[in-house]
Amino acid sequence: MAFELPDLPYAHDALEANGMSKETLEFHHDLHHNAYVTNGNKLIAGTEWENKSVEDIITGTYNKSAVAQSGIFNNASQHWNHAQFWEMMGPSGQKMPSELEARLKDGFGSVEKFKEEFSAAGAGQFGSGWCWLVVDTDGTLKVTKTENGVNPLCFGQTTLLGCDVWEHSYYIDFRNKRPVYLTNFLDKLVNWENVASRLAST
Ligand SMILES: [Fe+2]
Repeated sequence: MAFELPDLPYAHDALEANGMSKETLEFHHDLHHNAYVTNGNKLIAGTEWENKSVEDIITGTYNKSAVAQSGIFNNASQHWNHAQFWEMMGPSGQKMPSELEARLKDGFGSVEKFKEEFSAAGAGQFGSGWCWLVVDTDGTLKVTKTENGVNPLCFGQTTLLGCDVWEHSYYIDFRNKRPVYLTNFLDKLVNWENVASRLAST
């Protein structure tokens, strides 16, 4: 199926007060995400992947050596990653649902410990990539990091939360301060209701 750029679930300036500027979202959503959609559609046209779901394309092309397939993987995965990322943020700080809070305490000792681990994963990702909170294949919560467009679908994990640590995600608002961007993301931008709903559907 052709990829389509989803609308942001909020206005471009809706996250300004929470540390993500209109300018960042104009570049990040309207240009960067759109480029993954446009380039991905060009690459899958006329191939075996043309009518497959984005999830099937990601799992089917991950770690394949053929140049064309890795190009398809990079664009499909980045399209999927960004579509999740927009939904995982929201304009107003929301209280964390109690079931999610309990699972984080159970998995990491405390919500603060989870945040420390998540931030450390994002700060420690060398170069471009993502950090994630996932439900692993054994049912436990884990924090992971991946390079470039690789995501939890590649490992059979369920994605609860992801943060884009490519420079295009934070350089306008935070310059080179990736750790500050990550702390701000966790404290002011995450839509915890969305994270909890992903956990509830596992
Ligand atoms: Fe991005």
